[in-house]
Amino acid sequence: MPNSASTSDKFDNVANIYNGPIFQLYYFLAHSACINYLKPYLKDNQSILDIACGTGIFLKKILKQKEGLKLAGIDNSKKMISVARLFGDKIDFREADAENSSFEKDSFDIVTIIDAIYYFPNKEAALSECKRVLRPGGYLFLFYPAIDIIPNFILDQIKLVSRSLFFNLEENSSIVNIKELEKLAGLSGLKLINKKMQTMHRFIIFKKI
Ligand SMILES: C[S@@+](CC[C@H](N)C(=O)[O-])C[C@H]1O[C@@H](n2cnc3c(N)ncnc32)[C@H](O)[C@@H]1O
Repeated sequence: MPNSASTSDKFDNVANIYNGPIFQLYYFLAHSACINYLKPYLKDNQSILDIACGTGIFLKKILKQKEGLKLAGIDNSKKMISVARLFGDKIDFREADAENSSFEKDSFDIVTIIDAIYYFPNKEAALSECKRVLRPGGYLFLFYPAIDIIPNFILDQIKLVSRSLFFNLEENSSIVNIKELEKLAGLSGLKLINKKMQTMHRFIIFKKI
């Protein structure tokens, strides 16, 4: 079971280098793929919340996609949010946990969780929070590496590399099983409407019914 306090400490420690090439080479491709997948759902003047937004880079990229977007991001790492806020006040960045975003119910047309769901200790509570802040008919978009299908011999190497960089996958994350996720989302009142797998990553869209 991931430990929230330990995970936010780890991200606090890398916040100052997070926007540099070690992390952003990966996110350059990942965020482009996410935006391409999300494009049919994006409209002018929508409100979008990015949960576990890190330093806010995905939101900064989304800002350019449509006119009049109202964007917000939350993250439970104080330092990641401090770096995000350096961008200025075009985006409402707040320090908050995925389970309790601090926003009013029915506030957003779209909620996104990019490369983060496996860090959440209580995924059901986080999905319920997504449903609470989405307006009826709104969309939740999830993107994450499909660790459950990566062969063990490759996974062992990923664990080794991440441990030597800064992270202990066993302590800070848990494997996200797609069936379990669909079940938890269903319990929260979210309906799966689209999913695809691309380069060992899952792209999933749920709708608040
Ligand atoms: C790998 S980073 C991804 C950041 C961002 N989504 C992006 O695409 O650049 C994962 C982020 O999840 C955040 N996080 C982990 N657990 C969280 C939780 N329970 N609530 C809020 N944020 C969390 C971390 O602090 C970190 O910034």
